[in-house]
Amino acid sequence: MSKSDALLIVKDLSLSFSFEKTLWPALRGVNLTLWPGEIVSLVGESGCGKSLTGRAILRLPPENTQISGSIYFQGQDLLSLPEVELEGIRGSQMAMIFQEPMTALNPVLTCGEQVVEVLVKHKHMSVQAAYEKTSHLFSQVGIPEPERRLQSYPHQLSGGLRQRVMIAMALSCDPSLLLADEPTTALDSTMRQQILDLIVAQSHERGLAVLMISHDLVAVETFASRVCVMYAGIVVEEAKTSSLFANPIHPYTQGLLLASLRNFDAKTKRLPVIPGSVPTLLAMPKGCPFAPRCSKAKAICQKELPKLRPIDDHFVACHLF
Ligand SMILES: Nc1ncnc2c1ncn2[C@@H]1O[C@H](COP(=O)(O)OP(=O)(O)OP(=O)(O)O)[C@@H](O)[C@H]1O
Ligand SMILES: [Mg+2]
Repeated sequence: MSKSDALLIVKDLSLSFSFEKTLWPALRGVNLTLWPGEIVSLVGESGCGKSLTGRAILRLPPENTQISGSIYFQGQDLLSLPEVELEGIRGSQMAMIFQEPMTALNPVLTCGEQVVEVLVKHKHMSVQAAYEKTSHLFSQVGIPEPERRLQSYPHQLSGGLRQRVMIAMALSCDPSLLLADEPTTALDSTMRQQILDLIVAQSHERGLAVLMISHDLVAVETFASRVCVMYAGIVVEEAKTSSLFANPIHPYTQGLLLASLRNFDAKTKRLPVIPGSVPTLLAMPKGCPFAPRCSKAKAICQKELPKLRPIDDHFVACHLF
């Protein structure tokens, strides 16, 4: 498929926090492409900028931030779109599922009312038609007794059911892109698998593209067609999932895969770790941000930020190749 068929093209996306007249860059030229219907996973250690990337795509960044670059969604640059036009896209053609549904759902509205509100606003449905559609959506996402659950408040549901309500709300307007920010980390392992299976099934049934932000590399391997690995505000490697897991090129990707649960050593009861820690925004190295933790780093790695470029069938940002 050519770039012109892409659903989402994020190009040179940078985001900085502005504090006391200084800019602190948190994203530094992120590039991502999603084609219709595919599931792409964004992985990387805590603090590398995964959630900020999701929020920037929705143009809902934290306060005191400056964004540059471009985010083309169905050919339109979201960063230059007037807010009123963006509101027509957000929640409708592009939806987000947050990590903790309790903070994303409104505690004073019933679960039914929250989804109905979205359908009335974006789809201009009558309240009765919206209730019927919501009940159908609840049953599609596996909520038992959907009619009764329409009247429940979020605090009356288990974490798994709340997450299903969030998914129903996200799917209500038939979006073409779903941004899922660690949608299962607040759940137990059985529920985690069920919710992941549900998102994957909905993606296949509806031809829905999903950008799945995840820490769970074992799960990512099973559902994502491509993986983007982030480190300290940049994408360091992107490849087809099978190729990335079989042949990781960037030293950070290699370390991350080694540190995944697949390599749990039953004898020592330990996982391999990457020495050191992710640099903070206030102490970002000048060159490659991974250089201080990289055993193969050369002089150039300390000086220049590497650019993402094609190596074999991967894209890699590393001076060593
Ligand atoms: N509102 C904020 N104010 C100041 N710094 C922030 C804010 N939100 C994020 N950051 C910083 O930006 C960087 C990227 O944060 P982000 O939330 O995108 O990380 P993440 O990859 O999603 O991590 P996690 O896996 O823990 O969710 C981090 O250094 C974080 O501390
Ligand atoms: Mg996050």
